Amino acid sequence: MNILITGGAGFIGQHLAHALLAQGEKVRILDNFSPQIHFNDELPESLNGRVELIKADVRDREAMKHALVGVDTLVHLAAETGTGQSMYEIERYFSVNVQGTATLIDLLQNDTCGKSLRSIVVASSRAIYGEGAYQCEAHGLVYPHQRQREQMARGQFEPICPQCNARAYLLPTSEIAPFKPMSMYGLTKQVQEQAILLFARTRGINGFGLRYQNVYGPGQSLKNPYTGILAVFSNLARQNQSIEIYEDGLESRDFVYIDDVVEATVRSINYNGVFVGELNVGSGVGTSVMNVAQEIKTFFSSESIIQVTGEFRMGDIRHNIADITKLKDVLDYIPCVLFKQGLSNFLGWAEKQPDEDKSAYLRSVNELAARGLMGKAYTQ
Ligand SMILES: NC(=O)c1ccc[n+]([C@@H]2O[C@H](COP(=O)([O-])OP(=O)(O)OC[C@H]3O[C@@H](n4cnc5c(N)ncnc54)[C@H](O)[C@@H]3O)[C@@H](O)[C@H]2O)c1
Repeated sequence: MNILITGGAGFIGQHLAHALLAQGEKVRILDNFSPQIHFNDELPESLNGRVELIKADVRDREAMKHALVGVDTLVHLAAETGTGQSMYEIERYFSVNVQGTATLIDLLQNDTCGKSLRSIVVASSRAIYGEGAYQCEAHGLVYPHQRQREQMARGQFEPICPQCNARAYLLPTSEIAPFKPMSMYGLTKQVQEQAILLFARTRGINGFGLRYQNVYGPGQSLKNPYTGILAVFSNLARQNQSIEIYEDGLESRDFVYIDDVVEATVRSINYNGVFVGELNVGSGVGTSVMNVAQEIKTFFSSESIIQVTGEFRMGDIRHNIADITKLKDVLDYIPCVLFKQGLSNFLGWAEKQPDEDKSAYLRSVNELAARGLMGKAYTQ
């Protein structure tokens, strides 16, 4: 196969490129080495010279045209990825994630460079669900609205039933859940996914919208303060700096290890049948943010103080667990790396990386606060 990975110099892209090279594929990467994520604009030794590299922006039509020539499989990963940052850098997020995707599809539809394409995979996100699926005692399966500032200011962080406002209880979210993004990032990922799948259906080629949950593992950017709580917490723990946890610390995420994500993505690329649709790619297990902070502190024998601040960010969701039944049905795969093992792999790698100073992280928090996108529960 001739495979193009946009955003292939990033965390998931590099791991995927290694796996595809091991399978004997020809890999081309297009990436602009966004300075928010990368320390330099070089691929690691292990990829250098083994993949074809095009340093360019996904919105650069001429560069994309060149990158698409002869490609039969496209994996579209390039994106701006910070949930909080997306709430104020709105134009940038729509430009890269939506306009970038539109440029790609426009070329595939109208230019000869797209003629060889047989399959397309887009990195979607669980962010498109917003709060996701919950159970209300009176109304059964419900999909709560965005949590209101006033509600959270009272220290009531759990989502409520959109019909009766009673407390609702978390369920795994499946792909039939409605689109209900609660951040600009989520909205742009929704458009990316829908646009790519619409194109795949129209063209009659395979299309996979892989709804990644919280992906973690060695190689994730420790530099980018806008995304990845594991990276943020491990930077702080290594320097014995206090780890501040939003809300009451009981918010949770479905952390899925990079090897599982790569396996699901490779299986989508190798898929032999006919498929256009969405798949959750997660572990199916929820882990609280407090638990993550404690595990990281223990690993580094850190003197960091874990502080539950009662602060909250507009755009954040409360909990997340993916229903991975469809992933198993379509790709015959169940992610298998346990969080404890995956976290230890990640932290073992992170401790060998240079220290990241705290200023970028503080800047990211201040940017939100300055724009009125943070609040604080007055019960805390
Ligand atoms: N990591 C996660 O937890 C997670 C979860 C859900 C979805 N996703 C999605 O998976 C994809 C990859 O995520 P990742 O974790 O590898 O992120 P990453 O930030 O490590 O990689 C993204 C890559 O895209 C490149 N990029 C950014 N803007 C670009 C542009 N305008 N032109 C060309 N390249 C550009 C960056 O330089 C970077 O190398 C993204 O689409 C992201 O939205 C990731």
